[in-house]
Amino acid sequence: MSSVPHGGRLVDLMAPAEMAGELLREAEGLKRISLNPREFSDLEMLGCGAFSPLEGFMTRDDYERCVSEMRLAGGQVWGIPITLSIGRQAASGLREGDRLALEGPDGQVYAVMTVREVFDYDRRREAREVFRTEDEAHPGVAALYAQKDLLVGGPVTMLRRPEHSDFRQYRLEPAQTRAEFDRLGWKTVVGFQTRNPVHRAHEYIIKCALEIVDGLLLHPLVGETKSDDIPADVRMRCYEALIEGYFPKDRVVLSVMPAAMRYGGPREAVLHAMVRKNYGCTHFIVGRDHAGVGNYYGTYDAQRIFDQFTREELGVTILNFEHSFWCNRCEGMASTKTCPHAAEDRVSLSGTKVREMLAAGERPPMEFSRPEVADILIAAARAQVT
Ligand code: ADX
Repeated sequence: MSSVPHGGRLVDLMAPAEMAGELLREAEGLKRISLNPREFSDLEMLGCGAFSPLEGFMTRDDYERCVSEMRLAGGQVWGIPITLSIGRQAASGLREGDRLALEGPDGQVYAVMTVREVFDYDRRREAREVFRTEDEAHPGVAALYAQKDLLVGGPVTMLRRPEHSDFRQYRLEPAQTRAEFDRLGWKTVVGFQTRNPVHRAHEYIIKCALEIVDGLLLHPLVGETKSDDIPADVRMRCYEALIEGYFPKDRVVLSVMPAAMRYGGPREAVLHAMVRKNYGCTHFIVGRDHAGVGNYYGTYDAQRIFDQFTREELGVTILNFEHSFWCNRCEGMASTKTCPHAAEDRVSLSGTKVREMLAAGERPPMEFSRPEVADILIAAARAQVT
């Protein structure tokens, strides 16, 4: 039995088949709003219930309470606003109850939205409260500042699912991961968020968690990431190689999460945990600098943020892991919690150093990365250069 979805019920915004044709015809006559890739990812997350209990883009009461208190208007914990921005011109004349056709980046209509309200918002305040910085060098803040002037909130009905040509066998929706966990007989499942190739430290914390639960949902985020992150298709090959070589296959479900990355550190950790609960996870891993970028967040801020909520209201057990590494004196993987040795005994490489090694065709040490994973990254780095 998987976890109870956030808010108690898994939302499904797909139009019933018998209504879809009529809605498509209606959509033809509606004002169109075109969604950018990030908003489109959010629509997909909303549509399949990954953002339960949200049934559409946030209205002002949800938005305000989320920004200031990390809760929805109904009181449920929620880390990051899920909003749709709209230009003043497009919004002029819109009234409550009006319908809008939501168009994907490919120009097709995917959903119909019923407008509840159009409202003003303060981007700098959102940046401060959510991202803890107003600095536009922060990629999440930059995306926020690039939004249009107003927000439009209201429930959404999906006319069709976004179609993807990549990772098709790995695109399980929350109802499907839940069914899979039931089929496998798992009562406890740990979710692992990642936007990077999985190195030894990741593998270590995942395996520590796997010691105490029935199964793992390896759940890479494959929506928009910043340009210097490793592309999702390369990462997927790394995850496959890692599972193939180093995990008992009957204890792992690999599936992708279509969300975009916000780099919101602690706030995004809260969002990630609630979303994985919706996918059926009972446990969720938060390691060092979860969803962080640059030096905007303290190493363990994303763990501390959960202290303000009760276990009951989170509905998912957070498994915190400290900075992990290979220690030459321990002769194994360890963390700052379990290893007494000095920094010079530990194998630690900066992201920049790893990138340089890979670009030069050099494998990082096996204490840092599995050779199978390193080889995939080297091949990808070479392909990028040529
Ligand atoms: S993230 O942006 O998705 O958090 P990444 O894919 O690198 O980036 O991390 C996935 C998870 O592993 C996060 O919970 C992160 O905190 C954790 N993590 C990454 N590296 C380490 C490490 N060396 N030690 C402990 N936890 C780590």
